Amino acid sequence: MPTAPPPQFPAGFRWGVSTSAYQIEGAVAEDGRGTSIWDTFAHSPGRVADGSTGDVACDHYHRHREDVALLAGLGVTAYRFSVAWPRIQPAGTGPANPAGLDFYDRLVDDLLAAGVDPVATLYHWDLPQPLEDAGGWLARDAAERFAAYADLVAARLGDRVKLWITLNEPFVHMSLGYGTGEHAPGRTLLFDAFPVAHHQLLGHGLAVAALRARTAGPVAIANNYSPVRVLGDTDADRAAGAAYEALHNRLFTDPLLGRGYPDGTLADPSVVRDGDLATIAAPIDVLGVNYYNPTGVRAPAEGSPLPFELAPVEGYPRTAFDWPVAPDGLRELLGWLRGTYGDALPPVEITESGCAYDDRPGPDGRVHDPERIAYLDGHLRAVRAALDDGVDVRGYFVWSLLDNWEWAEGFTKRFGLVHVDYATQARTPKSSYAWLRDTIAATRGEPAR
Ligand code: FCB
Repeated sequence: MPTAPPPQFPAGFRWGVSTSAYQIEGAVAEDGRGTSIWDTFAHSPGRVADGSTGDVACDHYHRHREDVALLAGLGVTAYRFSVAWPRIQPAGTGPANPAGLDFYDRLVDDLLAAGVDPVATLYHWDLPQPLEDAGGWLARDAAERFAAYADLVAARLGDRVKLWITLNEPFVHMSLGYGTGEHAPGRTLLFDAFPVAHHQLLGHGLAVAALRARTAGPVAIANNYSPVRVLGDTDADRAAGAAYEALHNRLFTDPLLGRGYPDGTLADPSVVRDGDLATIAAPIDVLGVNYYNPTGVRAPAEGSPLPFELAPVEGYPRTAFDWPVAPDGLRELLGWLRGTYGDALPPVEITESGCAYDDRPGPDGRVHDPERIAYLDGHLRAVRAALDDGVDVRGYFVWSLLDNWEWAEGFTKRFGLVHVDYATQARTPKSSYAWLRDTIAATRGEPAR
């Protein structure tokens, strides 16, 4: 357990927690919701570790008032949720389904009434299945469809959402969804998945324009980043590290910040049309940074189809996901972003940071998760250090409010500040919830640095 007092943060620093629609909502067949690629994938045998689906998840669709009360009790100033595209456009095109919009309208109003800023992610991986049937993100049309959907959501919520996030982790969606097939839609195209990068980025740029036309609210994207640790000291190891860094950290950031694609990353440049790079580089107000861990990289074995080999980074405690707990990686990453992009880097918010542990209620019914407290303490200190290094970090969102349905891991990984008993849907705040509540209370409203 941390013993030093929590670090201080500038006045106005945004304290939040994040969730996503398919991981918590359930109610997959209600109020006109269509099918997404994750419904299809989760219902395909062998895709999810425990054979579970998001059909019910945390039943948040029916319990959102209780969940907003948990947010209010935590004292966060913001809540990042995602809008399920198939609730708004069941087939991915056409007019909005009013009942779908109504749900998020109520959620936004409830958040505002509780003093919590709504932060809305438009796409957290739940593509309407009919769009996947038409080629998914491999098809350029997906970008246009995404912008049309963004327009519908902004028309209804644009007067109240305090920060818009277009896409969540387009790198992870491309690589696990279309590259290796561990996530929906389960395609295994390896480097032939690159059009998915371009079409997501194009969709982002077109959605930025749609949002700007409807709302004065700030706009962001949430990228996943992982600082690269080169394991080995040969030139081939260093080249492998650079190749991985280009793919994971720069492919989705260089074009956003006006630099075009990093050399050698776009296997098929013919998908890039005149004007696309300008659309993608439309100014954003905030860069969302999702950080979990560093990646170990070394030269590939001969004959490997990849220009790098990934290997575990040793020397850190590990979470139940076997991810290293490396707060120094967060400071390093923020310094890398600042060093690489200089003044082109917009203000940053940490839009996800968190850990999974095998948390269960003890005999007293309480859930003690000292590892999560240590994790959060370490990562907040890393953010504080990055501020001292001169990086403009404006907020920190914990993944996640609730234990929830963790994609291909199903219900086997618990990331919540609040424990969920999936049999009864009982929510039990863990000791990390109380710790974060006290930390936020102790740091809110302090004078600027
Ligand atoms: C991120 C995802 C989020 C959650 C966490 C653990 O990559 O954005 O939905 O699964 O990992």
